[in-house]
Amino acid sequence: MALKQQPYGHLPDGRKTDLYILTNVNDVEVSATNYGGIITSIKTPDQNGVFKNIVLGLGSFREYLKNDPYLGALVGRVSNRISNARFNLDGKTYKLAKNEGENHLHGGLVGFEKILWEVEVVDDQSISLSYVSPDGEEGYPGNLHVSVTYTLDNDNKLTLDFGAMTDQATPISFTSHGYFNLTGDPSKNIHDHQLKLNADSYTPTDQELIPTGAVDSVEDTPLDFREFKSIGKDIGQTKLGFDNNFVLNKSEGELALAAEVEEPQSGRRMNVYTSMPCIQLYTGNYLDNSLQSPEGIPFRKHCAFCLEPQHYPDAPNRPEFPSGILRPGKNYRAKIVYEFL
Ligand code: BGC
Repeated sequence: MALKQQPYGHLPDGRKTDLYILTNVNDVEVSATNYGGIITSIKTPDQNGVFKNIVLGLGSFREYLKNDPYLGALVGRVSNRISNARFNLDGKTYKLAKNEGENHLHGGLVGFEKILWEVEVVDDQSISLSYVSPDGEEGYPGNLHVSVTYTLDNDNKLTLDFGAMTDQATPISFTSHGYFNLTGDPSKNIHDHQLKLNADSYTPTDQELIPTGAVDSVEDTPLDFREFKSIGKDIGQTKLGFDNNFVLNKSEGELALAAEVEEPQSGRRMNVYTSMPCIQLYTGNYLDNSLQSPEGIPFRKHCAFCLEPQHYPDAPNRPEFPSGILRPGKNYRAKIVYEFL
């Protein structure tokens, strides 16, 4: 087990960022920076023991300053969309920053992905990041204390442990926005990856990807991943690719297996576990070649997939969904575990 720390770059205002590199006994290596909590690389072996980076990452810190697709970043206070960038809570209307048409996406203009987090090194396998999101930030109520601990263990599990406390009621839904391509080669698309989701239902959306409020069965739809199916099999039946929220088959708060992925050529496999109620499958539909890997490979549409555990999207405006409101005095905890096999 080892943890290395190295200078990564400076923000335009001069604050310095670091890169933290966690390595376990199997030489699996996870690199993350305190800027946006971004996971910049995850190196795992294929079936012949060849290590490659299986997430989209950029070549230098400077390039992350324009990380529009949220590559590898922490997302919050509320991931996914809040319709019309507003919600009512306890009789009050809160107006949020609009950063996708009339809607609010992934926490707003300056979400968790653009924050320089405080760092506490826990031991040689974990780092902890913390941030106090002030009352009114991006329009949200309450001072929110957030922490995230990244732990890489010797069973090749990378665990993200989220904690939060607030002094006023506020919606929350954190996620980590890693883009995976288990071939380790982003010049290949992800169509051959086999995916299985532990989800019988999903939340249908309108044209702007705002949930209608329904929870429908995946049966007889391209979203039926209840048995292993290649991501490419039914992707042609979607508009741009997958960008859907699935409701997981589990009880509230239970840490359960949400997704299994297998890449046949490399033999790499990944499981995702979470305590959160939902997961977004997003197949990099808006990647447009404007960002590139350190080797110069442009990130194009469908060169990676995201599996983002989350709360129900637009929950603050959807009485049909569990509310996702954190209240003062409550200690919020949630987990995401990626297991590399
Ligand atoms: C969303 C996409 C969005 C993307 C931004 C995903 O989580 O589902 O609709 O475009 O994030 O990178």
